Amino acid sequence: MPQPDQHRLDADALTLEGIPALTQDALEAIAAAQDLAGLAAVRTSVDGDKAPLARANQKIGSLDAGQRAAWGKAVGAARGEIRQALERRERELTESFEQAALAEAKVDVTLPYDRFVTGARHPLSMLIERVSEVFVAMGYEVVEGPEIEAEWLNFDALNIPPDHPARTMQDTFFVESAESGLVLRTHTSPVQIRTLLERELPIYVIAPGRVYRTDELDATHTPVFHQVEGLVVDEGITMADLKGTLDHFAAAMFGGQVKTRLRPSYFPFTEPSAEVDVWWGERGWVEWGGCGMVNPKVLRGCGVDTDKYSGFAFGMGLERTLMFRYGISDMHDLVEGDTRFSRAFGVSLS
Ligand code: FA5
Ligand code: MG
Repeated sequence: MPQPDQHRLDADALTLEGIPALTQDALEAIAAAQDLAGLAAVRTSVDGDKAPLARANQKIGSLDAGQRAAWGKAVGAARGEIRQALERRERELTESFEQAALAEAKVDVTLPYDRFVTGARHPLSMLIERVSEVFVAMGYEVVEGPEIEAEWLNFDALNIPPDHPARTMQDTFFVESAESGLVLRTHTSPVQIRTLLERELPIYVIAPGRVYRTDELDATHTPVFHQVEGLVVDEGITMADLKGTLDHFAAAMFGGQVKTRLRPSYFPFTEPSAEVDVWWGERGWVEWGGCGMVNPKVLRGCGVDTDKYSGFAFGMGLERTLMFRYGISDMHDLVEGDTRFSRAFGVSLS
């Protein structure tokens, strides 16, 4: 019978002298673990039930009495050292995991809190609502027409024949091709014709909307602007009704103290015609819009019995309305879309 090697535990090729190297390997594996999952795997291999030192520990009891003390001390010390290293590494990894999670969720309270500028409703949209309310309260209905309009409705049906000088008063964007018969409407007045053709009498409507002209952008003009058309056709309508309606409209927009005047003018679709000016302090009288009694030729063209019915119409500039209403001195502010301008009206959308 071969003498058992006193320094070697059978089954495992472990010697007393081998314990420091084994311990060292275990400590290195522990230090190398990069995360908690990795450390758990290392723990099983160096401190689990089947780890060499655990097996050695189980066998100490079967050793010679003379061997037990030395093995017990060496194995116990090694296991103690390994367990401490495992605990230390676990604390380190837990801490750095938590720090990483914190860093990821970190909120820098010194950053500007509102980096996305919220929009605001454009004062023009709000004005259109306000104007509609004023007229709806008087029994009007709000109607609309297309921005790409038949040349015939924009001009001819309004008594502006092709060779008429009034046709060039409103410099027109034509829609290609030249024969298309379509224009970008130069005013909201074609909605008068559409309404007369489509609706039963009497008619009380307004038609707010966008219009286009080849005008240059300056302090009081823009190539894309808005008008509100008004049309009333009923029995016994006179110029006094027009004047009263416009006075009420002006007071609702600019306050009761506003000064307006009717200045004789010319539009082929009204007779008589006038332009409405608003007194704007240092700037004097500034034109607000056009108006007049609907030309009987236009009414008859739409099948209205002019022995029975008469009407008035008006078309006011809405950008101008805003300028008078809020003392906005430059049209550029209205069309540039800078939300700092819109937000000054206190209508943030956020
Ligand atoms: C017209 O457009 C007529 N259709 C008005 C009308 C309607 C008369 C019904 C009679 C009956 P006028 O071209 O003057 O008229 O324009 C009316 C208003 O639109 C002007 O007084 C002004 O307030 C506004 N306007 C005209 N051109 C511009 C522009 N380029 N930029 C801003 N506002 C404008
Ligand atoms: Mg005019």
